[in-house]
Amino acid sequence: AAYEAGEHESFMRKEILEQPTTAQAVLRGRLDERFGTAHLGGLDMDARDLRAVRRVKILGCGSAYYVGQMGAALIEELARIPADAEAASEFRYRDPVIEPDTLYVAVSQSGETIDTLLAVQEVRRKGGRCVGLVNVVGSAIARECDGGIYLHAGPEVAVASTKALTNMFLGFALLALQLGRVRDLSIADGKRLVAGLERLPAQIEEVLAGEADLVEVAKELAQARSLFFIGRVRGFPVAREGAQKFKEISYRHAEAYQTSELKHGPLALIDPEVPTVAVVPLDELTDRNVGALHEIDARQGPLVVITHDEVDLGEIGARRVVVPRNEPELDPILLTIPLQLLAYHAAQHLGHDIDKPRNLAKSVTVE
Ligand code: AGP
Repeated sequence: AAYEAGEHESFMRKEILEQPTTAQAVLRGRLDERFGTAHLGGLDMDARDLRAVRRVKILGCGSAYYVGQMGAALIEELARIPADAEAASEFRYRDPVIEPDTLYVAVSQSGETIDTLLAVQEVRRKGGRCVGLVNVVGSAIARECDGGIYLHAGPEVAVASTKALTNMFLGFALLALQLGRVRDLSIADGKRLVAGLERLPAQIEEVLAGEADLVEVAKELAQARSLFFIGRVRGFPVAREGAQKFKEISYRHAEAYQTSELKHGPLALIDPEVPTVAVVPLDELTDRNVGALHEIDARQGPLVVITHDEVDLGEIGARRVVVPRNEPELDPILLTIPLQLLAYHAAQHLGHDIDKPRNLAKSVTVE
């Protein structure tokens, strides 16, 4: 059947609301409760190949690059292998050293992004192994890779990617789990994460159920000419993705920054006209994050805080947006969902063409 927006006013909203279902699709048949691991047959790597990986390099563009940063953090935490993400558009221009024991991972919704495709070719030409995290089956990147994980998010039409990104995160979680369990990740931790992944689709549903509360907040943010999105460590790629989504469809300048770096420069810009959207999960950095919010509040910077119920913001005058907690490693994706809704409702309020923002294409197939 044709994929249509149906009763939804846009594909983006439809795709945001589909996430509880599409998230299940990427996990289906891949979780192993008994051994606390994941099975990813499409990778075409046995336990020995997986154990031989000494480093992971993730390549993607735009939001896929930001989710790649979330993925790198997951892999480093769970598998204790050095991992990082790089913009695929820059990769081949610096004549990168390709190492035989590095696993390269190309991440792309469309599977047709030329910069990502050329990065895969660069890796393979130099003898490296590159696997794909791709949504579109049989796409150029999927064909070019040595193996991979299909994302099963279904067709995504809106230029601003939502459900595919969520499944990229989940795909990375599966990969991190499998890489972890052939190394030192304990069965107890493996089982804890499998249970966390199984809980996630319902928790995404819970966040979406709070949509109405975000509409007013989004309208206020839409008034600003410039905004900050801030977060630390696990929260920083979340902030980057939040700023990206906001920019794409609201056409407002939104800059992502590490909360810890604010005091090294951008704090100079904070005033009542410049709102900040802060990602503040309950974790080992909560107190430091709240400290930074005090700095913003003292300069009358309006604050929207994406956070957990247990986080106490004290006397700070902020709009709180509370999301349910999962396992700390998996929390980034739940913190990302409200940012999709904020971008969506800001753009809706401004009357923009949400599915086809100006100057952008769904997939960038020419350099
Ligand atoms: C996402 O909202 C953007 N439209 C864009 O950054 C996108 O993620 C990027 O162009 C990569 O696309 P791909 O996943 O199809 O490779």
